[in-house]
Amino acid sequence: MIKKIGVLTSGGDAPGMNAAIRAVTRSALNLGLEVYGIHDGYLGLYENNIEKMHPRSVSEKMGHGGTFLGTARLKEFTEYEVRKVAVQNLEALGIDAIVAIGGDGTYRGALALSKMGIPIVCLPGTIDNDIAGTDYCIGFDTALNTVVEAVDKLRDTSNSHRRCSIVEVMGRNSGDIAIWTAIATGAEVVICKETGYNREEVLDTIRKAALSKRHAIIILAENMIPIQELAQIVSANTAFDARATVLGHVQRGGAPSAKDRVLASEMGVRAVRALLEGDNHHCICDRNGKLISAPIEEVLAEDDSIQTMEKYEVFKLVQ
Ligand code: F6P
Repeated sequence: MIKKIGVLTSGGDAPGMNAAIRAVTRSALNLGLEVYGIHDGYLGLYENNIEKMHPRSVSEKMGHGGTFLGTARLKEFTEYEVRKVAVQNLEALGIDAIVAIGGDGTYRGALALSKMGIPIVCLPGTIDNDIAGTDYCIGFDTALNTVVEAVDKLRDTSNSHRRCSIVEVMGRNSGDIAIWTAIATGAEVVICKETGYNREEVLDTIRKAALSKRHAIIILAENMIPIQELAQIVSANTAFDARATVLGHVQRGGAPSAKDRVLASEMGVRAVRALLEGDNHHCICDRNGKLISAPIEEVLAEDDSIQTMEKYEVFKLVQ
């Protein structure tokens, strides 16, 4: 029977993680469980950096970006011996189960830990929105709004100068931030893993834009083509002078949107319930507005690009 649970955030931080920690903590305490906050993700498990949580431990945190528990990327967690230390630390404190909030790396760590006998439920917390099986990840909505606001601003200056703005956005291997931004800002071109990069198509589109308007916008997902190189190609081959902007980590910061706060709260509550119902290697997914609990292994095996491509179809049709 589960009496004590731990909660951690791991991988890249995402706005809304604090709301998720709060929801896990408060709902578990209200159900009579003890709750432990694990600092710096799996690193804190390994280093035994764990504190007992009280209702007030999570006060005044929801409106802040980042994660107040801290986070880390711990490559060594793939090693059995490292995880064994983590399991020993949990056993010493009598922690029966864990809620882990993060992206796919966090999910893989959780799966490995569950195979060592620790019941664990994951919540999708990543601005990349790249966890298959869930329509939304905590943090995506806020990041998207940050990016859209930045692109709207770039359009003002770009339009004044008759320029092409090329904006590089995050997403790791997912084009969700790029494509959703392109739709939301009316960009001319989006380049990401799912769409690929076709030099001539891009130039053709920008040349056409130059015939009828004063600016053009290209949304470029990271890890595609070096942004300065693309800016030179556009400047040399179209009527627009191009400028490159890399938004970088600003996309991960800031106060979470209302949507992310509510989603994180609902998912946090659902995770605790899932653990009490006996789910022990699961993750919470938002499917068509309903929260379900699914095995981590199943979700990791799913293809996340289908929904992304559906959005790309929308982008193309509104050009
Ligand atoms: O996974 C979130 C994310 O922000 C990705 O979009 C990006 O590729 C990566 O993390 C950057 O990681 P780091 O903050 O460790 O440089």
